[in-house]
Amino acid sequence: MLSVHGLSKSFGERVAVDGISFAIASGEIYGLLGPNGAGKTTSISMIAGILARDTGEITIDGISIDDGPPARAMIGIVPQSITLYLDLTARENLDFWGRMYDLSGAALRDASDGALDAVGLTRRADDIVGTYSGGMQRRLNLACGILHRPKLVILDEPTVGVDPQSRSAIFDLVERLRDAGTAILYTTHYMEEAERLCARIGIIDSGRLIAEGTRAELVARLGQEARIEIGVGRGDSLERAERIVSELEGVVSATVENSHLHVIADHGANRLPTLLSALLNAGTVTESVRVVEPNLEDVFLRMTGRALRD
Ligand SMILES: Nc1ncnc2c1ncn2[C@@H]1O[C@H](COP(=O)(O)OP(=O)(O)OP(=O)(O)O)[C@@H](O)[C@H]1O
Ligand SMILES: [Mg+2]
Repeated sequence: MLSVHGLSKSFGERVAVDGISFAIASGEIYGLLGPNGAGKTTSISMIAGILARDTGEITIDGISIDDGPPARAMIGIVPQSITLYLDLTARENLDFWGRMYDLSGAALRDASDGALDAVGLTRRADDIVGTYSGGMQRRLNLACGILHRPKLVILDEPTVGVDPQSRSAIFDLVERLRDAGTAILYTTHYMEEAERLCARIGIIDSGRLIAEGTRAELVARLGQEARIEIGVGRGDSLERAERIVSELEGVVSATVENSHLHVIADHGANRLPTLLSALLNAGTVTESVRVVEPNLEDVFLRMTGRALRD
């Protein structure tokens, strides 16, 4: 459905997107994960035809977005920031977006009703959007993007700041769109969302796509590595334990998180005796040990590093 090849964009000296390529099939949810400033929103904006690209080919259904019908007819974009008129009602907002997508009359009314129903806002359709809660505004933002039943829906961090109910409603909607054959490009910082929703995931960093695959394929890139979570006695310093463990052979990384020492070790649980005896010899009391299968977050941090982005 969507094919992107060699997409690039610079803002002055800064290269925001540096030659990324990927494809999404109909009925597939593709997750784009990356740290802040990785180039996700810039990529999405170029795909949606909102931002001019420097280089690259973008085709939808085999037709270049430069040659075919306007991109806006084929693509529904749900932007990262809320793009609603707060002094209008939900229905008036949908009318506005509907006209942008060349809908009018009965077709527009049907589309609006369908979109309101899909996000559970039918009862509040005639309320002023400024009186909506944040989560309701997010859901309406989503309704505006799917109004014209596009073949490709792009969601840029759609669940930021929403409660578990709204999040779950958004997931259900995204899955219904997928089941109806829509191709979906989904960006998020929440790894569990990507694990739950996305058939394939691309990891983008500094404008480049550095890894791509199913959750299982990405986790397999960690090879024999496992995560070991260690709790130490009350009187013991986690930082000291971290220093001791960091220096051991086979330890890929050791960090303190949630009052536990998180260790990534090669050959997984086989490193446990070494870890535990090193702690014991240093006089640290080990209170709990858990060996956890690596998850997407481990892969993400391993591939993108821990440094904060500007
Ligand atoms: N209009 C612009 N002018 C100048 N630089 C820009 C512009 N838009 C984006 N950038 C830069 O391009 C880079 C990529 O930004 P982008 O918004 O695409 O990141 P992102 O992956 O969406 O990040 P986030 O997770 O924080 O939303 C950043 O360094 C950003 O500062
Ligand atoms: Mg962004």
